Order: sequence, then structure tokens, then C-alpha cells
Amino acid sequence: MSKGLREVAEIRNAAESMDEALALLKAGEIVAIPTETVYGLAGDATNGAAVAKIFEAKGRPRFNPLIAHVATMAMAEEIAEFDQLSRKLAEKFWPGPLTLVLPLKPGGAIHPLVTAGLDTIALRMPRGFGARLIERLGRPLAAPSANSSGRISPTTAAAVADDLCDRIRLVVDGGATSVGLESTIVKVEDGKLRLLRPGGIAAGELEAAAGAALLRGAKNGVEAPGMLASHYAPGALVRINAEDVAAGEALLAFGPERARNAEGAVAVLNLSETGDLREAASNLFSHLQALDRSGAKMIAVEPIPYEGLGEAINDRLSRAAAPRDSGASYK
Ligand code: TXA
Ligand code: MG
Repeated sequence: MSKGLREVAEIRNAAESMDEALALLKAGEIVAIPTETVYGLAGDATNGAAVAKIFEAKGRPRFNPLIAHVATMAMAEEIAEFDQLSRKLAEKFWPGPLTLVLPLKPGGAIHPLVTAGLDTIALRMPRGFGARLIERLGRPLAAPSANSSGRISPTTAAAVADDLCDRIRLVVDGGATSVGLESTIVKVEDGKLRLLRPGGIAAGELEAAAGAALLRGAKNGVEAPGMLASHYAPGALVRINAEDVAAGEALLAFGPERARNAEGAVAVLNLSETGDLREAASNLFSHLQALDRSGAKMIAVEPIPYEGLGEAINDRLSRAAAPRDSGASYK
């Protein structure tokens, strides 16, 4: 009784929740779904507001790039460029627990928050409920593991509900996941296969399919996937917590009030006129890229509060603001 009227996630059997899951996703909501590896927290990968909700629900302090899930090879080819080896691995292991990191096709429908502004994308084709859901939706789903930041990946619907209970509406229950480990993540570099994250497909199986040993450990000594040295940084320098705009600067604004001398900015884009952090997150990478194209040498960024998604937004901006000669590592 003393718990009051807090909303909690509904757990529903996969056999009877397809329509509800589909309706929620179409409305830009997020849904926890079973895959053969672990449960995923899924949102429409073409809808920035939905993707922002994923980060918000997980409480991730930074925008790591997410895996986009597809139902067919045709859907995958609309999103990414396949080299010969990646295509061969997809043919052999999809649907299944293999994620391929591939060059993103320009002009595609994937929202830039999914890739955290990178020009590559992690793609995988799951089995079972997830695949049917994506097919019905007709769009790829962005889905990290359905746990809050810092916790282990959930393999049952009950584990998802315990963790994310008041942050999501629906957990689709497909029973315990069959693989129980996250997908293996690989990337082809100059015709060679690099293991970025070990997972549900053993390295040996991949080596047999590729006909060569896997490269291990990340290039440039960067350890975790997503923590990439090549992580998107604008060409222009970035100055955060700007109270005023200097000559020649572009302005990345936030909220209804402008920094001093805003009218003198080379270009101005507002992350959210109303100060909505979810909207700001969904605009972050596209606005940075657009201001970069304005040719300004410096992008001044108005102060953004450190609450909710503001933490991840500020994390990303302060990395972009860090000195460029520090090895550009993204830790
Ligand atoms: O089995 C799985 O892979 C599960 C299910 C739900 O599909 N998903 C999952 O997602 O484990 P997540 O977000 O917890 O892990 C995705 C990993 C992260 O380590 C991220 O850094 C990496 O994929 N990643 C995503 N895009 C990348 C990219 N373009 N380059 C390198 N790594 C990338
Ligand atoms: Mg995870």
C-alpha cells in the first residue's frame, strides 16, 4: 500500500504481446524484448526521441553507440555497406548472435543517436520474437541489453522488470534466452576480421568461416567497443558552458534564453527551444555535424543542465571540447 501508484512494467507472454509491442514502437515508445542472446531494450532506430528514451531508461552516463537489429538482408543492405567477408559471415551466422560493424550508408534512415555520430554501425539479425517484430514494424530496432547502466545483461523477463520496472511499460516474456551471452561483435578491417567483443559465437567458429585467425584487442590500444579513438569529433573546436558568443563562432543553443551576442553567431541551432533534454539528445549529433559544416572554427555551446540525459550530453560535448593533441582517445 505504501508503495502508492507507481507505474510498473507489465510482463506479457510473447505469444500474445506482438500487437501491443508493435503499437508502442510505432508510437515512439520503448519495449523490452527477448532475443536469443539477452533481453534488449528496443526502440525504432529511425526515431531520435525513441532512441533518447533508451539512453534515459538505462541511465547511461554517456552515449555509447547501439546495435541496430534487422529482420532481413535487404533491410541490412539499406543501412550499411557489406564487404565480401562480412557478407559471408552474415550469410552463415544470421539470424544469430553475431554483430557486424560496417560502414554506414550515407543518407540512410538510421538516427545519428544510434551510432553516436559514428560513420560505422553495429548490425545484427536476431532470431525469434525480435525478428518477427522488426519485420512487422518494417524498420530496424536499436536495442542495447535491457539493463540499467552498470548492471549485467538480463536473460529473463523477470530480471528486466526487477531492474527497469518503473522506466518501461512492457516487457515481452519469451522465457529464458537460449544463448545467455551477448552477441559476438566483429569488424572487417582491410580484409581481416577483428574481434571487438567476445560473445555467443566462439572465436574458433568465426576463424573457421573466415579462413584466418582473428585480430584481437582493439586497434590503437582502445579497449572497449564504442570507446573508439575515431569517435565522432567535429572538425571545429567546441567551447562548452558558453555565456557569450565571440566573432566567427557558431552557437549550439539550448532552451529559450540566448547567450550574449548570439545574434553575431555564424550559425545557430537550438538543441531544444523548450529545454527538453530528450529532444536535445536526439538533436545532439545532427546539430553538431550541421554547425561543423557552417565552416566556423569554434562552436560555442550554451550551458546544459547535468540532470537526466544532460549528463550524457555534457559528457559528449566535453569530449568534443577536449584538446585534440591528447591522442584523441575516447575513454
Ligand atoms: O546480444 C547483444 O548484442 C545484445 C542484444 C540485445 O542484441 N545487445 C547488446 O547491446 O549487448 P549493448 O548496447 O549492450 O552493446 C553494444 C556494443 C557496445 O559495446 C558498443 O560500444 C558496441 O556494441 N558498438 C555499437 N556500435 C559500434 C560501432 N559502430 N563500432 C564499434 N562498436 C560498436
Ligand atoms: Mg550491455
